[in-house]
Order: sequence, then C-alpha cells, then structure tokens
Amino acid sequence: MTDRATGAAGTAGDTTGAVTGGDAADAGADADAGTEAVSCRGLDYSFGDTKAVCDLDLSVRAGEVFGLLGPNGAGKTTAIRCITTLLPVPAGMVRVFGHDAAREKMAVRRLLGYVPQQLSADAQLTGRENVTLFARVFDVPRRERAERVAQALEAVDLTGAADRMAKTYSGGMVRRLELAQALVSAPRLLMLDEPTIGLDPIARTSVWEHINAVRRATGMTVLVTTHYMDEAEQYCDRVGLMNRGRIHALGTPDELRADLRERRRGAPGEPGAGGATGGPAERDDAMPTLEDVFREVAGRGLDEEGGDFRDVRNTRRTASRVG
Ligand SMILES: Nc1ncnc2c1ncn2[C@@H]1O[C@H](COP(=O)(O)OP(=O)(O)O)[C@@H](O)[C@H]1O
Ligand SMILES: [Mg+2]
Repeated sequence: MTDRATGAAGTAGDTTGAVTGGDAADAGADADAGTEAVSCRGLDYSFGDTKAVCDLDLSVRAGEVFGLLGPNGAGKTTAIRCITTLLPVPAGMVRVFGHDAAREKMAVRRLLGYVPQQLSADAQLTGRENVTLFARVFDVPRRERAERVAQALEAVDLTGAADRMAKTYSGGMVRRLELAQALVSAPRLLMLDEPTIGLDPIARTSVWEHINAVRRATGMTVLVTTHYMDEAEQYCDRVGLMNRGRIHALGTPDELRADLRERRRGAPGEPGAGGATGGPAERDDAMPTLEDVFREVAGRGLDEEGGDFRDVRNTRRTASRVG
C-alpha cells in the first residue's frame, strides 16, 4: 500500500513539476514558504435571514492540512465557496496566497483545486473524459493535456478504469475521480468539501492516502471540511471547530484535546460531565477525544459567546413578535 502511494506521489510530483514551472513562477515561486495560503478576516455571509457565516477569521498556513469541522449547517460549505470565489464576499476580506478573492477572482481560481460536496463528475462520461473536461476548463495547455490527464488519473489509482463510464464506478472511485479533476490543474491549494462523506472506511482511507501522497510530492496546501472527527484527528495538522457560522476553537487536535483535559481537571464536578459509569475522577483524567472537545465547545458557545446569545435573543424576539 505504501509503495503504491509513493508511486502515485512520484507521478503527481512529475506532473506538478512540469506545470508549476510557469504558474508558480508568475505567482512568486517562493511565496509558499511561511505564507498564508488562506486568510479570511471578518467574513460574513447570509442567505436571506440565515446567517451562514458570521465574522469568520481563518488563517490556513501554506503547506498544512487544515480541517474545518462542524455539524451540518455550521457554515463550512458557505465559507469554502466564498474562498473559491463561487460566492461573493459581501463583508470582510478573503485572500488566497495574497490574492483578494473579491477583486482578483481569476488569480485565485488559478491557484486552487476544488472538490465540492455535491457530485461534480458526469456519470455518462468516462473517467478520462471527465478529467479532460476539467483540464480544458482550467487552461491546461492543449499539448500537455493528454499526459497531464493520464498523470492525474494515475495519481488516484484510476488508470485501469480510466476508459469506463463513471456510472460504473463505486462511490470511492467517483470521489477519487473528482480528486483527479481537482488535481489536473496542479493547484497550490486543494479545497475538499466533505471528501469522504458516505464512503466505507476502506474507501475513506484510500481517498486520504491519495491526497497525502500528492501533498508529500508537491507541498500542496489542503483545506478540508468534514464532520468525521476521527479523520480530522488522524489527517489534519490543525483544525477549526465551527458551529453556527463561527470558529469556536482552533489548534492542533492534540492541543485542543489537552486543553479540554486541563479545563476538566480545573473544574471538577462540571455539570453534565459525570457519566453513568466509572468514577468521576477517572473519567475527568482520561484524554478526551476531538469529539469531546467539539461537544464541549459547541455547547458552551451558545451560553457564553456574545454574538450567539444575541442571535438567540433576536430569534426569540422575532418569534415573539410573530407569535
Ligand atoms: N443556497 C442556500 N439558500 C439558503 N440557505 C442556505 C443555502 N445554503 C446554505 N444555507 C444555510 O446556511 C447555513 C450554513 O450552511 P452550509 O454552509 O451548507 O453548512 P455546512 O456546510 O457546514 O453544512 C445553514 O443554515 C443552511 O441551511
Ligand atoms: Mg457542507
């Protein structure tokens, strides 16, 4: 398995090497070192009365795997879509490798690959045709196209299935195909929205192995959303826990878990912390999981964060006016 992943990485590395020569030089080849891949300041986005993203500050470092975690409706997809320039930036500032997402849309788009939450592959086309379509849309030069498509397919282990229609693919293969679509333009930033949702554990692992192989070979930055805490714990360098449009905690998975353990130690008899089984002392001292952190942070947010409380109050006011 490792050999395979390394093989894929080698291929992807060659691919990117061939491409980045031009693009990266334009954008400043050394720009990635120590820079921010994504920077959001005070980003707000509403759908009518629904505040999907509220005053979001987010900083993704070049080269890292950053996980945006949160339950359904947290605002992850909306935030991602603002960063990809698919949604406008109505308030606040979003930059991708220094380029303003509101004013330099094309420059931003050229730097990123995006695997959306919803299906982006065409079932009636072959794998190769699907990736070729993306290569065309992303301006991969015509003479390089066939080779680059083949390399992207190889990087996700789909060479053998490349000329079959996508409708014959398994869920995991479709997700890998979408990964190839996003990789064919050799992005410096790969954005993945729920890349493993609905996949079985083996397919989930396979998707992550392919992402990591390409990343090792190219130094590509990855911004991923997921609500699988175990994946975040295993694959993300840093995570932001998002709920109701805001990030409530930020750090490496280990930092967040250790912080919660400290808080639990410092606050014995925390309401709701005592489980039905085991002594309370024993429970309090165990290293919490990222899921424990998330439950604690998301629950606490409602009572303590000013903005959230205001949201609740406004909602109630509206409700009482209506009622
Ligand atoms: N196209 C839309 N129209 C109206 N409301 C939307 C739309 N897309 C998302 N929302 C709302 O915005 C909030 C955030 O949604 P989303 O960004 O999709 O969250 P997540 O990706 O974390 O599940 C939710 O309350 C959702 O119902
Ligand atoms: Mg979503």
